[in-house]
Amino acid sequence: MALKTKIDSLRGEITIPGDKSISHRSVMFGSISYGETKVTNFLPGEDCLSTISCFRKLGVTIKEEENELRIYGNGFEGLNEPNEVLDVGNSGTTIRLLMGILAGRPFFSSLVGDASIGKRPMTRVTVPLAEMGAVLDGRKNGSYTPISIRGGKLNPIHYKLPVASAQVKSALILAGLQAEGITEIIEPSETRDHTERMIRKFGGVIQKENQVITVKGGQKLTAATIHVPGDISSAAFFLVAGAIIPGSEIILKNVGLNPTRTGIIEVLKKMGADLEIIQNDSDSFEPVGDLLIKFSKLKGTVIEGDLIPRLIDEIPIIALLATQAEGKTIIKNAEELKVKETNRIDTVVNELKKLGASIEATEDGMIIDGESKLHGGTVSSHGDHRIGMMLAIAALLSDDEVFLENSEAISVSYPNFFAHLNSLLN
Ligand code: S3P
Repeated sequence: MALKTKIDSLRGEITIPGDKSISHRSVMFGSISYGETKVTNFLPGEDCLSTISCFRKLGVTIKEEENELRIYGNGFEGLNEPNEVLDVGNSGTTIRLLMGILAGRPFFSSLVGDASIGKRPMTRVTVPLAEMGAVLDGRKNGSYTPISIRGGKLNPIHYKLPVASAQVKSALILAGLQAEGITEIIEPSETRDHTERMIRKFGGVIQKENQVITVKGGQKLTAATIHVPGDISSAAFFLVAGAIIPGSEIILKNVGLNPTRTGIIEVLKKMGADLEIIQNDSDSFEPVGDLLIKFSKLKGTVIEGDLIPRLIDEIPIIALLATQAEGKTIIKNAEELKVKETNRIDTVVNELKKLGASIEATEDGMIIDGESKLHGGTVSSHGDHRIGMMLAIAALLSDDEVFLENSEAISVSYPNFFAHLNSLLN
């Protein structure tokens, strides 16, 4: 599609759609708990719809009406052997968390996904789940989809995660809930804690102390009412747009402000952005707030270490931000980007170069020299939603035409993205 270019400024207010990670978990926890779970502000993105479709195939009744769900759960025991293959589409969260659930179920299932899922590493989940007692296999010695699982009785595990990954942590917590005894998981760096918060919201108990998580198996979870906050990873595109497009002033309402996700806010502030939290509710099970972003002069920074898992999905749009900041921005310790929906070190660097950015890939991140004047060209999302949205924001700075290939990928996490962008144009 031809993208909007040459715009004056972005001004106005948008309400950020539901969080993808929390939407997935609301379906999963609604399905494994007892009773009727009600979910509001659910994200109807392709990824979350894949999760609904998998749980329906496992026998769960889920009613969907606009952004509201009713899930009729019957505990882990209520899940039945599926007659069909479970297709997770493009969703890493669906497949990895689902494996943790299926590991404890006494039946056979097989999991497939799209071409991108077929390249993403699964041993990080299959290896510890096999250690707990599940029988798993897959292409290339159990590394890639299609994955088969025969679940059953599980032993608890004491496991030090080799990578900081909320998906792996969550899969092991979900298996741990079905194991006999106490599972202990140690994280190398803190990652998003939505699974832990959900367990408490559904009446369960989980402990966390200094990156050590303990959970007891055999707990019975009860249905809950979940209001999904807006996704800060979706808000990030408009936060950056507001910060880099002269004259802009945008209010973003209903943004999830869970501290395990707010790395982008810290980076924007460190780079000199004019960003304010104008309303804040930290009492709800997931904190939310409204943000006001205005254009300002920015400077380069270094992004590394424990900050990386707190902004991992925002790195594509942070790379664009850095192209408009004075000086060098260095992103380090971000090798996990190589195993996202695409190799995001390569796709970000290659696509931004096509528009004139001064950006180089490194082994574990990238180095960006700002400020660059961006120009037109033909770019591609490579089927990666966050690359597509980043390029659509980059195009706004160009005076020449920008054509985006594979723009449909954006519906994976933000089906209303272009409608929201258009509503901010003057
Ligand atoms: C997610 C965890 C992160 C993130 C992904 C969603 C989750 O992945 O990149 O978009 O919902 O748990 P990793 O656990 O692989 O880091």
